[in-house]
Amino acid sequence: MNGDEASEETILRAADLLAHGGLVAFPTETVYGLGADASNEAAVRRIFLAKGRPADHPVIVHLAGSAQLASWVLHVPEPARRLAEAFWPGPLTMVLERAEHVLDVVTGGQDTVGIRVPSHPVAQKMLRAFGGGVAGPSANRFGHVSPTTAAHVRAEFGDSLDMILEGGQSEVGIESTIVDLSRGHPVLLRPGIISVEQLETVLGEAVRRPDVHSPRASGTLASHYAPATPTRLVAPDALERTLAIPGVRVGVLARRPRGANLSAAVWVEAPDDAGRYAHQLYADLRYLDSTRCDLILVEQVPDSREWDAIRDRIGRAATPEGN
Ligand code: TXA
Ligand code: MG
Repeated sequence: MNGDEASEETILRAADLLAHGGLVAFPTETVYGLGADASNEAAVRRIFLAKGRPADHPVIVHLAGSAQLASWVLHVPEPARRLAEAFWPGPLTMVLERAEHVLDVVTGGQDTVGIRVPSHPVAQKMLRAFGGGVAGPSANRFGHVSPTTAAHVRAEFGDSLDMILEGGQSEVGIESTIVDLSRGHPVLLRPGIISVEQLETVLGEAVRRPDVHSPRASGTLASHYAPATPTRLVAPDALERTLAIPGVRVGVLARRPRGANLSAAVWVEAPDDAGRYAHQLYADLRYLDSTRCDLILVEQVPDSREWDAIRDRIGRAATPEGN
């Protein structure tokens, strides 16, 4: 389902709320975002308060189309032009040198800004009706699992937001690929469903992994996207052994059907295709988190490149050792 349910009246109300400094949660094809007018400092501050997010973390600015890009960045380098052409609207965020007017509260005081043009029809309508940039991190409390349905957003924030736009279950299911193009050579800041290979094919050059000079990104903290229940990654051949802990209620996100000798309290069999696994991942983690298990075990996924972004997210969902 593409979730294109919002009526014109609803969209206009969302745009009006944004224009008056409101907080509007909105669906995107990756995860739901928590939106505010990116040009209104007080409104963007409300996002940080609602999320419980440190104030120096930058937020992405969502635009309706590439045509608006030039007014948010200092200049549009050729690689950014190419990536926009190839992947926007879609699950790609580009970090570029910011235009002078872009607020410090949006950039985290850095001289760059993250920009994304989402493809979800409801996000598109909202952005077009509003006309400006919408600052929008994922609509979850800081460090928690990102929401992929409007119900997830409600579970995170209750009635404290001005509006939650309904848009069905997010198609992609994990956050956008982030590439930094602000420093002359492309650097991957966060893997996503658009792969490094796809970026390299369009760019005609290598995309580097982050180094010490890379900008801060909260989605790159070691522990992020995490359930409240202690969560561990487990190798497929260690699953049976790990499940045998006496007196512990275990929930499993597995890559196979429940075997007769596997004594978990809750068993979720994830799709075996990477795209569908990503689509379901956060809903599965939220479900497991709701079943009041003592421990969530996530069966490790394949080592291959198509699973890169998923390996990244389940690695961050896992509770750091000694915590
Ligand atoms: O798919 C997505 O990107 C979703 C949807 C709602 O668009 N948004 C999202 O936002 O995941 P958020 O704030 O949860 O994650 C964005 C990441 C953060 O880790 C932030 O630190 C990083 O992007 N980021 C934003 N602006 C940046 C900048 N100027 N330089 C470096 N990192 C930046
Ligand atoms: Mg987030």
